[in-house]
Amino acid sequence: AVVAKIAPSMLSSDFANLASEAERMLRFGADWLHMDIMDGHFVPNLTIGAPVIESLRKHTKAYLDCHLMVTNPLDYVEPLAKAGASGFTFHVEVAKDYWQDLVHQIKVKGMRPGVALKPGTPVEEVYPLVEGENPVEMVLVMTVEPGFGGQKFMPETMDKVRALRKKYPSLDIEVDGGLGPSTIDMAASAGANCIVAGSSVFGAKEPANVISILRKSVRD
Ligand code: DX5
Ligand code: ZN
Repeated sequence: AVVAKIAPSMLSSDFANLASEAERMLRFGADWLHMDIMDGHFVPNLTIGAPVIESLRKHTKAYLDCHLMVTNPLDYVEPLAKAGASGFTFHVEVAKDYWQDLVHQIKVKGMRPGVALKPGTPVEEVYPLVEGENPVEMVLVMTVEPGFGGQKFMPETMDKVRALRKKYPSLDIEVDGGLGPSTIDMAASAGANCIVAGSSVFGAKEPANVISILRKSVRD
């Protein structure tokens, strides 16, 4: 069965107080912590890498859902595994020629592999990764162009979520970008079960309420 996972995006947190921000989100009911790793090359923004994951890991046992918006994800497998990452989601756009090796290495290192796709990337491109003998365990459908928090949800991306849910009834399908109380129903009814939310959670007066609204909207 698909289980709802609510994953606040720590990109919207106060990075100077990451441990307490993480603790607060878990106390408010978060299941996962979504960690946006950017290299300033795959996307025009630069965030955090393995050293910060390693520091945060010392303060929490939480599932660290790492989203790699980087050009060379292979280079991050070993450092992120050592740092204590839980999920390792790479972008299909950069890994067309070596995803089998990448998925294998992610698993060997004890992390959970996922594949992400940008709004312009056809959903068919991830089918082989879900169906292979060494499959990914999650598909992340980007609902904004990757790179920045606080952007507007793109409803047209829901066709991809619907297609994936129809084909793979028990797959973890994550949505990321512009999710909050006003857009969650579109994502949940399309079939998404892992919900990333940055600005809608961190910008709220009562983040716990937003997390609980998101959770109630996802059908498990
Ligand atoms: C964007 C990141 C997202 C981002 C979401 O490239 O992948 O995880 O932090 O932030 P919101 O929820 O504000 O769109
Ligand atoms: Zn993300």
